[in-house]
Amino acid sequence: MAEENRSQWNSRFGFMMAMIGSAVGLGNIWRFPNVIYFNGGGSFLIPYIVALFLLGISFVMVEYALGYRFKSSISKILYSIHQKLEPVGWVVLLIIFLILTYYVCVVGWDLIYFLLSFSKGWGADPNTYFAVNVLQASAGIEGITTFVPGVLIAVFIIWLVIFTITQSDLNKGIEFVSKILIPVLCLMVVIIVVFSLTLPGAGVGLTQLFTPDWNQLLNFNVWLAAFGQIVFSLSLGMAIAVTYSSYLPDGSKLVDSALTVAFSNSAFEVFNSVGVFAILGFMSVASAIPISGIITEGSYMGLAFIVFPQVFNVMGAYAFIIGPLFFGCILFAGITSAIALVEPISLTITEKFNIKRNKSAALVCGLGLLVSLLFTTQAGLFILTAFDTFLNNFALLLTIVIECIIFGWIYDFDKLIETMNEYSTIKVGKTWKFIIRYALPICILIFWISGVGNLIFDFDPVSQIIMVILAIVLVGGSIILSILPAKNDNYYKVLDSVRGK
Ligand code: PFF
Repeated sequence: MAEENRSQWNSRFGFMMAMIGSAVGLGNIWRFPNVIYFNGGGSFLIPYIVALFLLGISFVMVEYALGYRFKSSISKILYSIHQKLEPVGWVVLLIIFLILTYYVCVVGWDLIYFLLSFSKGWGADPNTYFAVNVLQASAGIEGITTFVPGVLIAVFIIWLVIFTITQSDLNKGIEFVSKILIPVLCLMVVIIVVFSLTLPGAGVGLTQLFTPDWNQLLNFNVWLAAFGQIVFSLSLGMAIAVTYSSYLPDGSKLVDSALTVAFSNSAFEVFNSVGVFAILGFMSVASAIPISGIITEGSYMGLAFIVFPQVFNVMGAYAFIIGPLFFGCILFAGITSAIALVEPISLTITEKFNIKRNKSAALVCGLGLLVSLLFTTQAGLFILTAFDTFLNNFALLLTIVIECIIFGWIYDFDKLIETMNEYSTIKVGKTWKFIIRYALPICILIFWISGVGNLIFDFDPVSQIIMVILAIVLVGGSIILSILPAKNDNYYKVLDSVRGK
């Protein structure tokens, strides 16, 4: 069943830190505060918690059970279930590869801001600084032929860091780095939150954040936003949990681990947004602008790279400590998430094409850097928005529905229940099965259908062309990668556990 000589985590702590590192990322730090603010404040926590259980925990457990049971890459697992399903695995891998290419770019911007924060180098007008000085952003695709040197260098450095980490084996690379970065990250966030609560005006921010707007619970879009946030924040459907749990030793408590990771990720984002809003409250009082005037809709990027520099400008000398801490947090969270996106792809390449682990990771980083070049041009932000919308709201959600159907209906789901419960303290059963078979795919499909509407109507024609190209790459690429013959005969050996032994 399990292949010999597979990597294995040295400790449960290492595995948990890597899992939390894969989940806690840009989504927790700059996405969540925006999402909660615009979707009803305190009352958003209700759809959020529903989404956490219905979607987050339920699906992450499927990924855990698959990885642990089959000890294989996602495409091989799918091939084992049915030969024709292999392309679904490759679609997932291509999606996360493309997500990785722009995710690295946002981490690169953050590196620039981390360095700027030591001297408040963004100047008096952070808004203009971000668009004109850092990104040199063009309104449309026309800037695609001009590279932005600063962003190019930053993106190159981040790829180099990822390359270096992924060149080591599992334990010296991902496990070691996560064991250091995640505790440091938590400490940094605690310092930021404690400090921010001492600022004058902190209470104003917290009232804004948590005052519930119960009417919003009747708003369909608020529920969709909760589902979207959980998918993004937990890195759902990206085969990361499948890959990481395939490195677990026998006897692991899967349900306990899945719950710990999911709750830690949510606790992190709720806790962090307390700090973010306390700081925004301070800004609001200091500059006599209501919070609604400081944080504007759709400005995920804006919150980190425009609003926070504005805040640091009025914070005085403390900003020289809190600024680097804040951008340092995003940097650490971003790097641990990025290395998690490399792993499922390089593992699959290793398994199918019999290429050594470090070489396949190098291949992913090299090709990734090439695609990332797109985002280092003046049209970077424009292209990035199209990539992000298509891949996250459209493609990824669809693959989660397909996976629910495959694992809930085509595969014998009871085997996954058995695997999850084997050593766990907390047991799962019929409710989980019902969620994966019915509740989850139906909810996501509703979300997905409303997303398709937005894609078609809200975007300009060039973005729509970019999305069509992405769709062609996903479908064409996955078919080609499935047809290419494996260089490793084991790849085509149907896994025993699939045959029900
Ligand atoms: N879950 C991580 C985050 O919240 O940033 C990582 C991640 C999310 C990576 C979404 C990629 C992505 F599309």
